[in-house]
Amino acid sequence: MSLYRKLLLRLYPYKSLQDDYVTRLQGSIGGAGMLHPGNVYALDYAIRHAPAEGAILEIGSFAGLSTNVITWLLRKHQRLSTPFFCCDPWVYDGYHDKVRHDDAIYMQHFEGCEHVTREVYTHFIRESFIRNTLLFTHDALPHALHLESDTFFDAWKKEETHADVFGRQASLGGRLSFVYIDGDHSYEQARRDVENTLEYLLPGGLILLDDSADYWKYGSVRLAREMRRWKGLGLVMKNPNYLFVKG
Ligand SMILES: C[S@@+](CC[C@H](N)C(=O)[O-])C[C@H]1O[C@@H](n2cnc3c(N)ncnc32)[C@H](O)[C@@H]1O
Repeated sequence: MSLYRKLLLRLYPYKSLQDDYVTRLQGSIGGAGMLHPGNVYALDYAIRHAPAEGAILEIGSFAGLSTNVITWLLRKHQRLSTPFFCCDPWVYDGYHDKVRHDDAIYMQHFEGCEHVTREVYTHFIRESFIRNTLLFTHDALPHALHLESDTFFDAWKKEETHADVFGRQASLGGRLSFVYIDGDHSYEQARRDVENTLEYLLPGGLILLDDSADYWKYGSVRLAREMRRWKGLGLVMKNPNYLFVKG
């Protein structure tokens, strides 16, 4: 939380209601997104400093907020011709999945509330992604694939051709200049995403790892700390999420 927000909170304290349903709803109505303001700054930096050749990849698009911020920044910096890929399986990640995985009602519904199934919710988010992107980036649609990142990288390696969510064919493969990793934040998956990225990342290419700020508890935080010691990677900034450059 910024100093300004802390000060505001001290001056104007208020009580809040802890309610998972309402928290999730705030991030979903109208297909809103989950994008830290510091990431927008880091995305802008990355898009301005990424090698001119190579493609950009986003892992985890949700309703398209970060996707459309990226395409906006590409437009702003006259780099809209850069090939831009994104992948998302549009899966639901409940707040209590780890401890309630045996509770079938919880696992099938939006925070366990039986009037909204996870299936209907994730379909809505995917449709929101399509609608948001058709509105804000209709003239330069990204190659958006309904795939988990592991499957995406497998297809990338094999240089396959895949239909994207807009019904167009996308040819995969080649070098990457910048990758925004915001999919599954477990240590194991985030690490696989980084390792797969590094196989294709050009020298000077960048990786922004979401939810890696020191104060979070995700596996991506542990990963970011380890990456600081990896040879061939440099830390560009912590804002508060980690942005790395390949040497
Ligand atoms: C935090 S949201 C992404 C938010 C989005 N970048 C934004 O700014 O609004 C995480 C997304 O990652 C997706 N996801 C989960 N596991 C994934 C995986 N293995 N590969 C790619 N995406 C994944 C989820 O479906 C979800 O839409």
